[in-house]
Amino acid sequence: MCGIVGYIGRRDATPVLLEGLRSLEYRGYDSAGLAVVHRNRLQVTRTAGRVQDLRDRLDGKTATKATIGIGHTRWATHGEPNETNAHPHTDTAGRIAIVHNGIIENAEQLRDQLTGQGVKLVSDTDTEALAHMIAAEATEGVTLEDAVRRALRHVEGTYGLVVLDIFQTNELVVARNGSPLVLGIGDGEMFVASDVAALVRHTKQVVYLQDGEVATVRAADYRTVSRPTTVEAEAGDFELGPSYQDFMRKEIHEQPEALRRALRGRLDERFATARLGGINLDPRQLRSIRQVKFLGCGSAYYAGQMGAVLVEELARIPSDAEPASEFRYRNPVVDPDTLYVAVSQSGETADTLMAVQELKRKGGQVIGAVNVVGSAIGRECGSGVFLHAGPEIAVASTKALTNMAGSFAMLALLLGRVRDLSAAAGQRIVSGLRALPDQIAQVLSDEDDIAEVARRFADAEHMFFIGRVRAWPVAREGAQKLKEVSYVHAEAYQASELKHGPLALINCSMPSVVLVPADELVAKNISTIEQIKARGGPVIAVTSADLPADLADATIRIPRAEPELEPLLLNVPLQLLAYHVAAKLGRDIDKPRNLAKSVTVE
Ligand code: F6R
Repeated sequence: MCGIVGYIGRRDATPVLLEGLRSLEYRGYDSAGLAVVHRNRLQVTRTAGRVQDLRDRLDGKTATKATIGIGHTRWATHGEPNETNAHPHTDTAGRIAIVHNGIIENAEQLRDQLTGQGVKLVSDTDTEALAHMIAAEATEGVTLEDAVRRALRHVEGTYGLVVLDIFQTNELVVARNGSPLVLGIGDGEMFVASDVAALVRHTKQVVYLQDGEVATVRAADYRTVSRPTTVEAEAGDFELGPSYQDFMRKEIHEQPEALRRALRGRLDERFATARLGGINLDPRQLRSIRQVKFLGCGSAYYAGQMGAVLVEELARIPSDAEPASEFRYRNPVVDPDTLYVAVSQSGETADTLMAVQELKRKGGQVIGAVNVVGSAIGRECGSGVFLHAGPEIAVASTKALTNMAGSFAMLALLLGRVRDLSAAAGQRIVSGLRALPDQIAQVLSDEDDIAEVARRFADAEHMFFIGRVRAWPVAREGAQKLKEVSYVHAEAYQASELKHGPLALINCSMPSVVLVPADELVAKNISTIEQIKARGGPVIAVTSADLPADLADATIRIPRAEPELEPLLLNVPLQLLAYHVAAKLGRDIDKPRNLAKSVTVE
């Protein structure tokens, strides 16, 4: 969703801002803009197009030698995605410029008040109101920071924002409430961004602003509540590199290494368990947990479902998953003996964050399973498991989901080993987990065959994804991935539910992807395939079992893993299937229409 960049230092600000905006493109946006101060005047450039359009528009104007500026990529909330509504917004006199992420909930009321005072609003946005309000507060003797603080007193809602004042060109003012904002500390220069992706090429030293914080940033000095930390990511992690044409495929192929990173130092052979220091629970506390509930949205919810199956199987504790977006609205009964796990790649998903806050208000015990260090959900939870998947740029989540499921396997193992899971069974899971990265690499080495299957079925208008028990969340995730990147309509069903309705839809133009792990349900799954075939439905089997050669129309084979862990392997061909269907259909794979990487608004 929206992205923010800011710069103050000695360099020409415009190219720095443009480069920063380019690295935030992956989040999804519909317009872009920037403002710099040149010869004491604000120069604002905006476009309803891409960052490249902004660059084209600036051509010839880039050598302004402005050393301070702010930029934005906008995902429309208030008002259409056109040039007038693009950020930065300014006050009438062109003194104050502001970029803003989040939503001002009382925007209508603020806009009406301003109009009543004779202010002429030019855009339909909530942000513009704030620019006028800050300008009104910035009277003589009042610092910009104080003016921003005073204006924000009237604001209800969420924001991450950066403010520029042409009368104070030695400082930017930043403020955060619910929308991420990070400072990058350079040598005599400072960077601001909503995402470290825009900072890592300049500096590894960053400060994550806290909610409620307002701060003044100067080229060589800043004051914040939080201390600087060093980011792990390298600039190259955010780049495509020469081997890939898009991030989704790159990230699919990064999975063996990403999972290895998540497992590193966390598997304990000696005691046949997992070590997850970040969850801060001792064995007695782990034993007192009576239920585990996973909360996340979209793919993170499906990963939570995989986690729930693992916890029930390995720890024999009742467990389930629920979309965080539903949980937060339904006045949930919060049980103090339940361990809630908030699952999120970005750590910024508004619905998941709200669910965590609701849980904390009701005294619930919540830990995070989060990929982005320093993100709001990670900090709100205070304890949990970092996923260590590395930056995920493609909108469609792949490696983060694999690391979520791998982390939940470790959580389930840990919970199991303080209960009735024997050391031998624990050892089996530890070895199974250790084997997974190489097994995923093996699946990836069959990409050409999987791509061939994808091309054969790419013209289908609808597809079913069928799985049962352990493979059911995988089927849901497979359908989600196909929908997202290829726009082919896909539905997931439990194999057992087919005959209760959906079988009516089976015909020769409705291919079904049937997941057949080599577990105790193989015979049942074979009979599911036969039922579909009997009605003329084409079947793509994804399996580690020895299925009869001519049972399915296409068979994708995966290595055999420990049965509880097999969902992690079954998922990988489905990612490749979705990817190659989308590629065949010529889709914009990394930026599917209407979707954003992190959904920071409701
Ligand atoms: C699917 C996808 C989304 C996200 C969901 C939650 O490929 O990426 O469904 O999984 O928006 O995002 P996070 O994990 O960042 O909370």
